[in-house]
Amino acid sequence: MSELIYRLLTKNFNQIDPGSIDDYVTRGGYLSLKKALKMKDMEIIDEIKASGLKGRGGAAFPTGLKMEAVKMAEGSPKYIICNADEGEPGNFKDRYLMENDPHQVIEGMVICAIATGIRFGYIFIRGEYVKSQKIMETALEQARGKGFLGENILNTGFNFDIDIYTGAGSYVCGEEFALLVTIEGKSGRATYKPPFPTTMGLYDKPTQINNVETFCTIPHIIELGGTGFGKIGTASSKGTKLVCLSGNVKRPGLYEVPFGTTVRQVIYDLGGGVPNNRTIKMVQLGGASGPILPDEMLDVAIDFDEMRKNDLTFGSGAIIVMDERIDVLDILKRIVQFFHHESCGKCTPCREGLTQLLILIDRFIEGTASMQDLSLMNILMDTMTNSSICGLGQAAPTAVRKALEYFPEEFTSRISNHVAAAM
Ligand SMILES: Cc1cc2nc3c(=O)[nH]c(=O)nc-3n(C[C@H](O)[C@H](O)[C@H](O)COP(=O)(O)O)c2cc1C
Ligand code: SF4
Repeated sequence: MSELIYRLLTKNFNQIDPGSIDDYVTRGGYLSLKKALKMKDMEIIDEIKASGLKGRGGAAFPTGLKMEAVKMAEGSPKYIICNADEGEPGNFKDRYLMENDPHQVIEGMVICAIATGIRFGYIFIRGEYVKSQKIMETALEQARGKGFLGENILNTGFNFDIDIYTGAGSYVCGEEFALLVTIEGKSGRATYKPPFPTTMGLYDKPTQINNVETFCTIPHIIELGGTGFGKIGTASSKGTKLVCLSGNVKRPGLYEVPFGTTVRQVIYDLGGGVPNNRTIKMVQLGGASGPILPDEMLDVAIDFDEMRKNDLTFGSGAIIVMDERIDVLDILKRIVQFFHHESCGKCTPCREGLTQLLILIDRFIEGTASMQDLSLMNILMDTMTNSSICGLGQAAPTAVRKALEYFPEEFTSRISNHVAAAM
């Protein structure tokens, strides 16, 4: 088990008191910040680019490129936002990062600010994460007190401060544009891209927005150097990944693994497998918006390229295990209900598409569906994916689509005999 776990971002977990900045400093905390203050801004960005770091919030966009784009963009003031909304069911890594090692988040943000010359940032924390909010508030105060944040950081003349903004329980507000307009005091709705936040973000100013795990990786890149960091993981996916393992496993929890570890290794070697040696019916990757896959596919590696080759995504890192006892259609209905509830209603394909998708799934559950409903469902899902404004509507049908691919009999066996015979 030990070879599979790589403690980089989680190295301080259970080793320090998250409420003590001195504990963090004793274990090497803020040394990367001191190092970054002696580097030229583009040197920092070049190290991030050389590291191959890709964003951990789901889209896997190269972080160094994002930083460079913000740095080069016209407009002032610019902003840095840490996305700690973490509304995707099955994900809890950002909460653990904030609650176990809050200064790691702050250090990553300050290093980015030095590189991009930005003076102000927000940490947007999910409304339900009250403990995280308190821990981060305390950590920000402590960081200011020790000169790592605020005016004249470590007497270098550089100023950067961070405020906390809390969400109000809406999943779509984790989407970057919905998040930004929420901070502006508007209702949380996504919008078309481009322009991207790097050129037109908060208050229409260039904005660097990254996930908590992405920011937490930055101090380690500065410490190890981009090339040194790039030695961890695989050719396409550098570093470690925090994986949130849940569902029917003996040891659910948060695991940090190097990229390249397989899904099966996480479930069996780290998670201990399924209780009572039941077989796995399906596993969902990434969270509610991610694909489901059957047991035969669990040897796929946690690696951006390999996932893509298998037409899969890993989202922000959830693995939800469902054993032989589950009903595939029942699970799909719950997933679609979740998106139906969370849709902001701005665009028709998502708002109406989810309503219709629920009606169709119910027909299969009740045994009244026809072959025509099957093709209708496919057309509907294509429309949602191709024409919804934001990732919520685009990804909402993913689980249903994958279920049709891997478990077609779950649908065809429930087509009404009467209707099927007549076709
Ligand atoms: C519906 C929806 C919800 C999202 N929720 C989150 C979230 O909770 N946390 C997050 O980091 N990214 C979330 N994202 C992705 C963000 O829009 C954005 O890509 C990410 O914060 C960028 O950070 P990264 O480059 O470090 O991955 C969400 C996207 C969509 C479409
Ligand atoms: S896809 Fe859904 S959540 Fe996104 S803008 Fe359209 S209605 Fe809103």
